[in-house]
Parts: sequence; structure tokens; C-alpha cells
Amino acid sequence: MDPSRNIQKNHNFSAAKHFCNFILILGFILYLIYILLPNHPCCYSFTIFTHLRPKLLSHNNNNSNYHSSSTNITHLVFGIASSTRTWRIKKSYTESWWQPNITRGYVFLDKISGNLLPWPNSSPPFIISKDTNSKYKNYDKHPIPQTIRMTRMILELFEAENEDVRWYILSDDDTVFFVNNLVEVLEKYDHNKYFYIGMNSETFSANIFHSFDMGFGGGGFVLSYPLARALVSNLDLCIKRYPTLYGSDHMVQSCVADLGVSLTPEKGFHQVCLPCPFIILYTQSHL
Ligand SMILES: *[C@@H]1O[C@H](CO)[C@@H](O)[C@H](O)[C@H]1NC(C)=O
Ligand SMILES: *[C@@H]1O[C@H](CO)[C@@H](O)[C@H](O)[C@H]1NC(C)=O
Ligand SMILES: *[C@@H]1O[C@H](CO)[C@@H](O)[C@H](O)[C@H]1NC(C)=O
Repeated sequence: MDPSRNIQKNHNFSAAKHFCNFILILGFILYLIYILLPNHPCCYSFTIFTHLRPKLLSHNNNNSNYHSSSTNITHLVFGIASSTRTWRIKKSYTESWWQPNITRGYVFLDKISGNLLPWPNSSPPFIISKDTNSKYKNYDKHPIPQTIRMTRMILELFEAENEDVRWYILSDDDTVFFVNNLVEVLEKYDHNKYFYIGMNSETFSANIFHSFDMGFGGGGFVLSYPLARALVSNLDLCIKRYPTLYGSDHMVQSCVADLGVSLTPEKGFHQVCLPCPFIILYTQSHL
């Protein structure tokens, strides 16, 4: 037997051993990095590290704002969808809960007509929605003429009011809120996360007609600030994606679903749709 060949063999063997050790140690180091650094659900069982994790993550996941102060009425901003035609007869619904100079928000009108002026202090201030008819001419096959204007309300509301906002509440002009109860409900949720809160309709056929998994505008629904910001950053693109949906609340639900967020149901939001059974009957009899 050739001794030099034996030495060569031993040498190969020890190199392989070193390589294996190296891989083992590297693997162990990578594993430690993996369980210590990322906020991965895999590792929640590693309780010995849980006290380290908040510190390691604190610079990019600053939630101190959430824990430091509780939600109050000034953190809520309301967007009330209306029109010149309906505001005159429905404004008393809004004025029953609106607290001038305390509640924040706007009524969105299509235009202002003389018989609404002078605008009273008991009503929320108004915004005339931007005229986008020409921009969306090719994308507007909605059965309700003002669907796109109402969907864009969240964008115009966000542009008008975005300092110290935790929650945006979208509603109709005949929605009645118990604002203190609403504040109490929203207090349960982390406004720094994506939340879409509301309830489906109490009229069964309305859910068939629209969706079972959406917050109906008639009862009001809520978007957290970060979700609203994400939604408005690409809202026009989303409006073009859904040219035929019936209501603006269904459009918002679809755009929110595209961001991977589903409805968080809260039973305190109530919506009934009296004409819905007839709409279903009408459309079915025409099929
Ligand atoms: C977290 O946010 C609060 C205020 O929202 C700020 O005072 C604090 O410095 C922030 N902490 C870090 C680590 O960024
Ligand atoms: C609401 O909370 C903010 C802190 O985020 C505070 O500055 C403000 O005074 C509070 N307002 C009321 C009416 O409690
Ligand atoms: C609200 O504020 C305006 C001016 O800031 C004031 O003229 C008005 O009287 C206030 N309204 C109430 C109900 O306090």
C-alpha cells in the first residue's frame, strides 16, 4: 500500500470533518439569527427570548403611541356622503349626533345650492366633491350615478383631515351615531394596524345583492388611519378595477379586500335596506 495515498485520504477525511463542523456552526448561528430577529410566528414558543424581542424590534415597530394615550372623540374623523338634493331633508339625522367644534369631519355634496345657505354651525362643514365625471367616463357603468363620487370621499376626507387621526368613519346623511359608544368600541382596536370595522346588512337580501362580508355605509363603517392611507394611495386605480359595482361601500370593500384586509364585524353597526327585497324581485323578474 502506498503510504502517501493513506496520508492523502486522512487529509481528505479531516478536511471533510472541518467542513461539516463549519456547516454545523454556521447553521446554528443562522438559526439563532432567525429566531431572534424576525417577528415570525414559528418562534413564539421560544419564551426565553420573548423579553428580548420587543427591544430588538422597537426601532421599527414603535407602538408606544398606542399604549400611551386612550382614544377619544378628537381622534375620529367622519365623512358623510350626501347631495344637495338629500341634505335638506336628511340633515336633522346628522345634526342629532353632531357636536359642533368637537366632532371632526365633513359632509360631501355634489354641489351647493342657494337654499342651503347660509350654512348653519349646527351642521358639519361641507366639501363639494371634485368633479371626476370626465376622468372616469369609460369606467362608470354603476347603476347608481354617484357611486364614484361617494367612493372618492375617503380620498378627499383624508386630504382634508389627517393630523392626529386614528379612525375614519364613513356614513350616509341619514346615519345616526352614538359617538361615545363608537369611541368605546374603537378603543378596543389598535389604530396603528389595518382595520376595517363595520357590519353587514340586517336585510338578508341586501347581503345577497352586495356582499355578506362588507361594512354597509348606511350603518357606517370604519377604517384605521394606516388602512385609509394605503387605500387612498392607489384609489383611482382601484375605482377603475370595479366599474360595475352597485354601491360605494361595496367598492370600498373590494379595494380594501385587495389590500388583504377583511371585515372585522361589530354588532353595534346597524343597517337595514327597505327597498332591497323589491330590487331583488325586480331584477329577477327581468332575468
Ligand atoms: C416612539 O414614538 C414616540 C411618540 O410616538 C416617540 O416619542 C419615541 O421616541 C419613539 N421611540 C422610538 C424608539 O422611535
Ligand atoms: C384626546 O387625546 C389627546 C391625546 O392623544 C389629547 O391631547 C386630547 O386633549 C384629548 N381630548 C379629549 C377631549 O379628551
Ligand atoms: C365654533 O367655532 C366657531 C369659530 O371657531 C365659533 O364662531 C362658533 O361659535 C363655535 N360654535 C360653538 C357651538 O361653539
